[in-house]
Amino acid sequence: VELSDQEMGSVAAKGPKVKIGIYFAVWWALNVVFNIYNKKVLNVFPYPWLTSTLSLATGSLMMLISWGTGLAEVPNTDLDFWKSLFPVAVAHTIGHVAATVSMSKVAVSFTHIIKSGEPAFSVLVSRFLLGETFPAQVYLSLLPIIGGCALAAVTELNFNMIGFMGAMISNLAFVFRNIFSKKGMKGKAVGGMNYYACLSLLSLAILTPFAIAVEGPQMWVEGWKTAVSQIGPQVIWWVAAQSVFYHLYNQVSYMSLDEISPLTFSIGNTMKRISVIVSSIIIFRTPVQPVNALGTAIAILGTFIYSQENDARKIYKGLNGGNDFKHS
Ligand code: 3PG
Repeated sequence: VELSDQEMGSVAAKGPKVKIGIYFAVWWALNVVFNIYNKKVLNVFPYPWLTSTLSLATGSLMMLISWGTGLAEVPNTDLDFWKSLFPVAVAHTIGHVAATVSMSKVAVSFTHIIKSGEPAFSVLVSRFLLGETFPAQVYLSLLPIIGGCALAAVTELNFNMIGFMGAMISNLAFVFRNIFSKKGMKGKAVGGMNYYACLSLLSLAILTPFAIAVEGPQMWVEGWKTAVSQIGPQVIWWVAAQSVFYHLYNQVSYMSLDEISPLTFSIGNTMKRISVIVSSIIIFRTPVQPVNALGTAIAILGTFIYSQENDARKIYKGLNGGNDFKHS
């Protein structure tokens, strides 16, 4: 069958859209599964420092095997690359462990409601620490984000200060992660998948001593015995699932950044949170009051308005020097 020039053009135009659609669907699905298993594990084995470490360790191991077997190409890195990756890894580690600590204390939905306020942190850090200015509409779009998150927080039935602060710290840390990665990846030839693999390895090295200091093997052994006595040996599969899915969703999200602009990415990330919030409320039967749901809806709507208003390529999710960053 011969296609006309016009038909060929339309197939070519649909190709990237289909690819991005697939990336998004896979990213959200993996993220929902991660969040559910992560919470199932934390409910019976509340050691977020260890589970965060295991997520990074599993991802690192998967990538070492992929490199060793030739499944993935070994990245060509030098000392400068690892030096520039270091601040990214510190921020990634803090953001990851803080989110997991949060989820060990509050409902998954609540952590993600607060995390939907990340754009507000991005603007505030860029404004006050980097001196960037934004159009008035961007600042105005922060009002529903902050107001909605605040309304959801004050009406949260199972509010817990550590859970709240963990999600807030995670927001702040991930904003720095994104700013540092943008700087670190400029002009480097490491693609999204390998960039995230190196990030996992370095974060694992940073987090391990802290996990041992904060929780430690004695607590883990006792906690594990309790978890197995409650659930049975299959709890190990829950841990495996949360670890594998953590790596996979992050890997896909970094890979998608090779293809899309940070603006599209930030919209995708917000839509991801909606799927996590809704699915976790259903699965864990989280009680929700109408006014709490209203606060969540306002915050998420605010994030969409923000995405429309903000020239996001400047500040948000500048993770890996994807196409848009090469021009910025
Ligand atoms: C984590 O454990 O790192 C968080 O759940 C990550 O959250 P995010 O990728 O949804 O921002």
